[in-house]
Amino acid sequence: MAGASPLLLLCFLLLVSMAVADQCHDDDHAALVAIDTAMGSPYHFASWTPDSACCDWYDVDCDADTGRVVGLRVYQDTNMSGAIPDAIGNLTFLETLTLHHLPAISGAIPDSLATLSNLSELTISYTGVSGPVPSFLGMLTALTLLDLSYNSLTGAIPPSLADLLSLSSINLRRNSLSGAIPSLLLSKSPNGAYLQLSHNNLSGAIPTEFAAVNFSYIDLSRNALSGDATSLFGAEKAIQHLDVSRNALNFDLSAVEFPEQLTYTDLSHNAIHGSIPAQVATLAGLQQFNVSFNRLCGAVPTGGNMSRFDRYSYLHNKCLCGTPLTACRQRPVGYLH
Ligand SMILES: *[C@@H]1O[C@H](CO)[C@@H](O)[C@H](O)[C@H]1NC(C)=O
Ligand SMILES: *[C@@H]1O[C@H](CO)[C@@H](O)[C@H](O)[C@H]1NC(C)=O
Ligand SMILES: *[C@@H]1O[C@H](CO)[C@@H](O)[C@H](O)[C@H]1NC(C)=O
Ligand SMILES: *[C@@H]1O[C@H](CO)[C@@H](O)[C@H](O)[C@H]1NC(C)=O
Ligand SMILES: *[C@@H]1O[C@H](CO)[C@@H](O)[C@H](O)[C@H]1NC(C)=O
Ligand SMILES: *[C@@H]1O[C@H](CO)[C@@H](O)[C@H](O)[C@H]1NC(C)=O
Ligand SMILES: *[C@@H]1O[C@H](CO)[C@@H](O)[C@H](O)[C@H]1NC(C)=O
Repeated sequence: MAGASPLLLLCFLLLVSMAVADQCHDDDHAALVAIDTAMGSPYHFASWTPDSACCDWYDVDCDADTGRVVGLRVYQDTNMSGAIPDAIGNLTFLETLTLHHLPAISGAIPDSLATLSNLSELTISYTGVSGPVPSFLGMLTALTLLDLSYNSLTGAIPPSLADLLSLSSINLRRNSLSGAIPSLLLSKSPNGAYLQLSHNNLSGAIPTEFAAVNFSYIDLSRNALSGDATSLFGAEKAIQHLDVSRNALNFDLSAVEFPEQLTYTDLSHNAIHGSIPAQVATLAGLQQFNVSFNRLCGAVPTGGNMSRFDRYSYLHNKCLCGTPLTACRQRPVGYLH
C-alpha cells in the first residue's frame, strides 16, 4: 500500500490538469454562448451544450495550460447564415479565427475584431461577407496571415496593413477591391512574402517599393494594373510564382532578369513589349511560362528547358519568331528598322 500514495497523487494531478484544460474561462464561455445565440443556435454548434466543457465543443481550441480559447475554426456549412457575431471580439485570447466556406454568412467584418490583439491568423473566405477590408486590421500587431479571399469585399486595400511587422501572407483573391495597391504593403515582412490579389479591380501601378520585398509568391492577375512590373524581376529574387496576367501592364521585357528560382510565370494578356531575354533558358525549375497576348518581338529563346513550352506560351504577339513558332526571317540587305 505504501506505493499507492504517489500513484494516487499522480492521478489526482492528472485529473486536475485535465479539468483545467477542458474547462474554458467564464468570459470565453459567455462569449461562445453569445456567438451561438447571435447565429440562431445553428446545428453546427449542436455540441455547444452546458453538459460538456466548452473546450470540448466542436470548432473550439483552448490553450492546454491556461484553458483560454485560442482558436475558433468554423468550416463548410451552407446553412449557417446571418452576420459575423460581434461577440467573437470577446474571445480576447483568440490566436486563430477561421470562417471558411460559409456562403450564407453576410454583412461586414465587425469592428469588435479590433480587440483581438493576439490574433495571428485571420481567415474569412468563401462567404457572402461584404463591405471594406477594415483598416483596423492594421492594429492587430500579432497578425502573420490574412486570408479574406472569395468574398464580396469592396473599396481599397487599407494602407494600414503595411504597418504589420509579422504579416507575411495576404490573400484577397476574388473580391471586388479597387484603387491602388498600397505602396508599402509587405515592406516590413519577414522573408518569403506571399501576396495573392487576383480577380479584383485594382488599378494604378505596381508599387516600385515591391523591388525591396522578398516575395516567394505573387499573383496580381486579372486586375486593371498599368505601367511597369520590372520591380518584381531580378535573378537574385527568391520568387517562385509570378503571375501578372490579364492587366494593362506596358513595359519593356528585354532587359529584365528572371528570378532563378522561378517555377511559374504568367505575363499573358498585357501590353508588354521588347523581346524575351535569353536568360530565361537558364532557369532550371521553370514549369509554366506564358507571355501570350502581348506586343513582344524577336526570337524565342532556345536551349535549357525551353523545349517544354509550345506555341501556346507565345500566341498573339507582335513579331515573336523561331521554334516553336515560324522561323525568323532573314533581314533583307538594306533593312533599316
Ligand atoms: C442543412 O439544412 C438541411 C435542411 O434543414 C439539413 O438536412 C442539413 O443537415 C443541414 N446541414 C448542416 C451542415 O447543418
Ligand atoms: C462582451 O463582454 C462584455 C463584458 O465583458 C459585455 O458587456 C458585452 O455585452 C459582450 N459583447 C457581446 C457582443 O457579447
Ligand atoms: C496574448 O498572449 C500573451 C502570451 O503570448 C499573453 O501574455 C497575453 O495575456 C495575451 N493577451 C491577450 C489580450 O490575450
Ligand atoms: C528571401 O527569403 C528566402 C526565404 O523565402 C530566404 O531564403 C532568402 O535568404 C531571402 N533573401 C534575402 C535577400 O533576404
Ligand atoms: C473597375 O474600376 C473601373 C474604374 O477604375 C470601373 O469603371 C469599372 O466599372 C470597375 N469594374 C468592375 C467590374 O467593378
Ligand atoms: C532542366 O530541368 C531539369 C529538371 O527540372 C533540371 O535538372 C535541369 O538543370 C534543367 N536544365 C537547365 C539547362 O536548366
Ligand atoms: C497562355 O495563356 C493563353 C491566354 O490565356 C492561353 O490561351 C494559353 O493556353 C496559355 N498557354 C499555356 C501554355 O498555358
